[in-house]
Amino acid sequence: MGTLTNKRILLGVTGGIAAYKSADAVRRLREAGAEVRVIMTAGATEFITALTLQAVSGHPVYQHMFDTGAEAGDVQGRTSAAGGRMPRAAMEHIDLARWADIVLVAPASANFLARLAQGRADDLLTTVCLATEVPVAVAPAMNQQMWSNAATQSNLAMLKKNGISIFGPAEGSQACGEVGPGRMLEPADLVKLVSDLFTTGELDGLTMIVTAGPTWETIDPVRGLTNRSSGKMGYAVAEAAVEAGARVILISGPTSLPDPARVQTIRVESAQEMYDAVHAHVRATNIFIGVAAVADYRPAQKAGNKIKKTDETMTLELTRNPDILASVAALKPAPFTVGFAAETEDLEQQARQKLKNKNLDLVAANRVGPGLGFGTDESSLLLVEHETVTELPIQPKTKLARALIHHIAARYRAKKFATVHVLRRP
Ligand code: CTP
Repeated sequence: MGTLTNKRILLGVTGGIAAYKSADAVRRLREAGAEVRVIMTAGATEFITALTLQAVSGHPVYQHMFDTGAEAGDVQGRTSAAGGRMPRAAMEHIDLARWADIVLVAPASANFLARLAQGRADDLLTTVCLATEVPVAVAPAMNQQMWSNAATQSNLAMLKKNGISIFGPAEGSQACGEVGPGRMLEPADLVKLVSDLFTTGELDGLTMIVTAGPTWETIDPVRGLTNRSSGKMGYAVAEAAVEAGARVILISGPTSLPDPARVQTIRVESAQEMYDAVHAHVRATNIFIGVAAVADYRPAQKAGNKIKKTDETMTLELTRNPDILASVAALKPAPFTVGFAAETEDLEQQARQKLKNKNLDLVAANRVGPGLGFGTDESSLLLVEHETVTELPIQPKTKLARALIHHIAARYRAKKFATVHVLRRP
């Protein structure tokens, strides 16, 4: 798996000869693990067909602001962040803007850069760029004179000022026969630059353990106790931590998810196995995040053979499992310790209780119930700390995980700095 696993990239293609490279860019982004949706401007369709980009991206291409026919006809097979249909009719630009983790416009023509710099919303692509909160990057491609023109350069200065990343252009011979700056970067370079945008370096040099998924507590060789955790949130947290520069050990109960790229994944079944794996690695860990839905109890006895039915009722005796999170928080020194709380009611109060009882640094609480929490692709979190409460609103778990890691990185640094400060005080 590559460096863009689970990333959602909205690729804008504008009118320019370099549009022929867009198909290769889509292919390479997908090879790196990303999901790609394409928006074409009217000019782009003069250079490459929507059919080509549909074939390489595996999804219908978006072209028009108010194309109700296309919306109604092609929503089949698209999944939204919430796992439902995407996008809703007549809301396309907003849904696309929300769906993406990044908007990349490649090639970006001189005309498109001018419209973007002015904040225009006169077609689907410019409207999405205005409506999105996620990073926008452009890969300019144009004749070298057009690139050097003062108007283009002042548009670029405006775009940079507005936080838009400019990828390239490269120098060299151009389709028009001239030589100079204005060639679009090669697709492989674009993939690298896009993955760099996700790399924050906030956790550089730190080691983190994340527990994830459910546990399986054996009753007999064919039965066991488990829960509805899918592992998605824990895996997303592990991936976000890697992007932030951490060395990550993911200790996972049984899930159907593949091992995340660049993460050391240790698969376990029971709470006791998870406890053992955590304590085998935790000493060298700076941050511990317990996302796993660990069974509080296990059958007191494991039957060696399949249990046969006999009486009308049956009693299963259960024994308490060790509390992994509390045991980590009790270490001296303890890593920065974060717990999760999945609750159906009194979210903040329950989270605060766990924060105190287990002596944690932070509890990330989420509401669970029908259609919420376990198994879904979207969630929200309430971050409860001793002094503060922060709300991370409902969003895809991948984005939520990044926001959580960003918050934890800041708190970790603040705590470390405070400790050093206290130690040094005479
Ligand atoms: N946890 C753990 N080991 C356990 C049980 C839970 O590490 N044996 C961790 C989970 O990974 C999560 C947090 O503790 O981070 C959940 O706290 P907990 O109080 O166990 O939640 P519930 O089981 O929901 O508690 P209760 O039913 O008592 O409210």
